[in-house]
Amino acid sequence: MSTTRGRLISFEGGEGAGKSTVIQAVQARLRERAIGFESTREPGGTPLAEAIRALALSAEWQGRMCAETELLLVFAARAQHVRERILPLLEAGTWVIADRFTDASFAYQGGGRGQPEERIRALESWAACDLQPDLTFLLDLPVQTGLARADARGPRDRMELEQESFFERVRVAYLRRAAQSPERFRIIDASRPREEVADSVLQALDAWLATVVPA
Ligand code: TMP
Repeated sequence: MSTTRGRLISFEGGEGAGKSTVIQAVQARLRERAIGFESTREPGGTPLAEAIRALALSAEWQGRMCAETELLLVFAARAQHVRERILPLLEAGTWVIADRFTDASFAYQGGGRGQPEERIRALESWAACDLQPDLTFLLDLPVQTGLARADARGPRDRMELEQESFFERVRVAYLRRAAQSPERFRIIDASRPREEVADSVLQALDAWLATVVPA
């Protein structure tokens, strides 16, 4: 008997978008539906990729890490993560819930840092095995609102130390990417209270599940 391949669902958004709350709601829904899944995050998701994350996001390198190094680090982490964990899980029929994936590189390294799209696309192709999520939630909210929420959470990491204009470019790049793949993306207004945001995500998830999993 052949196993049905698992699905990859990713969650994206700027700083302070409220991904954690939404991800918890989605995890609960998948459990209710008896869908086997694992949760992970990027950069990170394996011991080596987590070590690369610590290096990539450390405030120690603020103003000293060049854009090319940053791009290669996030893809070094992803190359490991995809091969060691995500692909084996999907092949075994387990679903994967990812707190960020390659869209974040198009938004942060592409939009934010100005790295050429075709360069990121090439990395996606060989370093990330051209793996695309089946469904992506983009939690969109004004930059200032998100940064204020992130500040309430704790000290800023190297990315969060960037100027607001950087995050405006990130936001625009995410929205452009969502517009390019409307069948995969669900854009969610994340400026609303957490429960409302989670409800919208669950509604969209249920509608999508109805198309991919028999009830
Ligand atoms: P977060 O998971 O807490 O949101 O933090 C991850 C940070 O790393 C966030 O600032 C976005 C950034 N990032 C990139 O710049 N490029 C990437 O490809 C990924 C996955 C994350």
